[in-house]
Amino acid sequence: MVSTDNLMIYLSEVFLSHPVLTSALLVLTITRIIWYIRDSYKVCAFSQKHVFITGCDSGFGNLLARQLDGKGFHVIAACLTEKGAADLSAAASSRLKTIQLNVTDSASIKRAVEFVSREVGERGLWGLVNNAGRSTPIGPIDWLCIDDFTKVLNVNLIGVVDVTLQSLPLLKKAQGRVVNVASILGRLALTGGGYSLSKHGVEAFSDSLRKDMKPFGVKVSIIEPGFFKTAVTQQDLIEADLRRLWSLLPQDVKASYGATYLEDYVKAQNFSLGVLCSPDISKVTWCMQHALTACFPRTRYSAGWDAKLFWIPLSYCPSFISDFIIKVILPPPTGETNT
Ligand SMILES: *[C@@H]1O[C@H](CO)[C@@H](O)[C@H](O)[C@H]1NC(C)=O
Ligand SMILES: *[C@@H]1O[C@H](CO)[C@@H](O)[C@H](O)[C@H]1NC(C)=O
Repeated sequence: MVSTDNLMIYLSEVFLSHPVLTSALLVLTITRIIWYIRDSYKVCAFSQKHVFITGCDSGFGNLLARQLDGKGFHVIAACLTEKGAADLSAAASSRLKTIQLNVTDSASIKRAVEFVSREVGERGLWGLVNNAGRSTPIGPIDWLCIDDFTKVLNVNLIGVVDVTLQSLPLLKKAQGRVVNVASILGRLALTGGGYSLSKHGVEAFSDSLRKDMKPFGVKVSIIEPGFFKTAVTQQDLIEADLRRLWSLLPQDVKASYGATYLEDYVKAQNFSLGVLCSPDISKVTWCMQHALTACFPRTRYSAGWDAKLFWIPLSYCPSFISDFIIKVILPPPTGETNT
């Protein structure tokens, strides 16, 4: 009793001596609790809901497909390769259906959506997860040609728009959800190539889609993962492609970067990816699952501590600060400069 009284006296003293600080803490705590409760309301009847996911060969899409299958959802998992589809089928229940899909090919999307339409019937489609993506070619801008840009933009941006447009009638029928995988590179442009462009585009597309679909009850969420170990960040693939790009460069461009630049760049990138990439990709699929199962899905989910505590805050900083930090990560050219 005595100690409780003492505690109350102590707390009231603290409150009286720091009224602004303690009020702010109180408001923050209450807001957090309300937010937590709001977050925890879930939709029901998973077993009567269909979710269509692109890019299920590996990484986030593959894990999400198995995770939602385990929760009782009817998952339609689109894979680029036959092997990806076969391996996923073998690892999931018989409820999960796989289909081959190339998101850069409108006819392939049309076939896939017709399949989805037959599967969902009158219920409509509860969830579309636009997850398929690629990172390469990625590197300094003057190492790239226009095809290098379009290769990435066609998958990561035009593919997302095309799959979404063709699926919208089914989504409207179910008053469903669209979950688009962007990236922290949808906020910051760390390197050249189509990747950051495409992810900035996914952010803009999702924002306009959210506003246009709100009257129809279709909700749209954006996932912004930080660095995770997936095919998109696979060092040997990125390195092999950088070597290909370098080998195609004219001598004068190579000279402007310096003879050792490629090796320095690959080493720095290897080091950064090694330090930054988290192997726990379930952090990302947790966000996707929340966007599909919560009564109040969030507009944006940042996944990973690096995204939450570093990249997203950095994206709000003035450019001179973010430019400086990004410059520290990758080496500067050391070659002769043309003046
Ligand atoms: C996907 O479709 C595009 C356009 O039709 C084609 O150029 C590309 O080779 C296809 N990719 C695969 C892996 O089949
Ligand atoms: C970069 O990492 C890959 C895979 O981890 C490795 O095979 C390669 O030798 C590394 N390259 C350099 C230049 O460190």
